[in-house]
Amino acid sequence: MNTVTLNIVYQEYAAAAEMDPQDQALVAAAMEAQKSSYAPYSKFNVGAAVRLEDGIIVKGSNQENSAYPSGLCAERTAMFAAGAAHPGKAMTAIAIAGGFDFGLDGTPCTPCGACRQVMAEYQMAGGKPMNVIMVGANKILKFNRVDDILPFIFDSFTEKK
Ligand code: THU
Repeated sequence: MNTVTLNIVYQEYAAAAEMDPQDQALVAAAMEAQKSSYAPYSKFNVGAAVRLEDGIIVKGSNQENSAYPSGLCAERTAMFAAGAAHPGKAMTAIAIAGGFDFGLDGTPCTPCGACRQVMAEYQMAGGKPMNVIMVGANKILKFNRVDDILPFIFDSFTEKK
């Protein structure tokens, strides 16, 4: 029997201004996307922005519905929009900005498990690491790949390849 310890390395920024220009633009896009959030039930507004391998940015926001499970998180709205409009292009980064009443929480908004699984699949399909950036009022976290926030990813592709 072995006891194994996982080590997750990520960057913590005090503000977007500390990030490289490409990431600053993605953070700004996620914050812009938050404005289009439709969240009358939870009042928790989330914006997400996906960067494609050619630099194109695709935005999305959470869209709720009175039949609650019919709504969708910002991350999946953005990724599905990117997948539908730009099939075959790798998604190389996603930024997420969320908080109540169109604000930002002090602690960054972290993606739900279902969104992480969708990120994992697009990362796999694109064949390139997808950076994950979580934006809060007081700090921004940057993870280099989806694996870092979803250890032991369910990966049905690997066995087939
Ligand atoms: N939500 C997101 O859009 N992304 C997240 O990372 C966390 C949660 C949405 C779902 C729902 O519309 C609202 O926030 C409250 O959970």
